Amino acid sequence: MPRVRVTRLLHFNAAHRLYRPDWSDDRNAEVFGACANPNWHGHNYDIEVTVAGEPDPETGYVMDLGELKRLVNERVIDDVDHRNLNLEVPWLDGLNPTTENFVIAIWDRLAGRLPEGVDLERIVLRETPRNFVEYTGPGPDRS
Ligand code: NI
Repeated sequence: MPRVRVTRLLHFNAAHRLYRPDWSDDRNAEVFGACANPNWHGHNYDIEVTVAGEPDPETGYVMDLGELKRLVNERVIDDVDHRNLNLEVPWLDGLNPTTENFVIAIWDRLAGRLPEGVDLERIVLRETPRNFVEYTGPGPDRS
């Protein structure tokens, strides 16, 4: 049966600071640069969520993209939009919010929440137009 990937692009803004509390300010500034600014800074994030499955014979859809949008909003964006990622998001608590750590946490918020027969395939998280990460989930066949 044909398997098709479908993607929804969403957007949000958030503030953060990259740092390790067990490192000195100098060491944090050296490794994380401007992102270590103690007074926070913001990013305009774009997120692409890709799911895959067989198109339903009746609707022709793998998944209603409105439904996917609602899921990503409920599980992720409502929690992080216009928030401080270090201070205000329980599911990021204690995590240094690099784009890498953030995309893995987002994956864990969405995995297992999709309709029967639909797989979470890939998440691309863009922190800036030039800096972005891609995650296709844990597991030996995907690493
Ligand atoms: Ni930053």
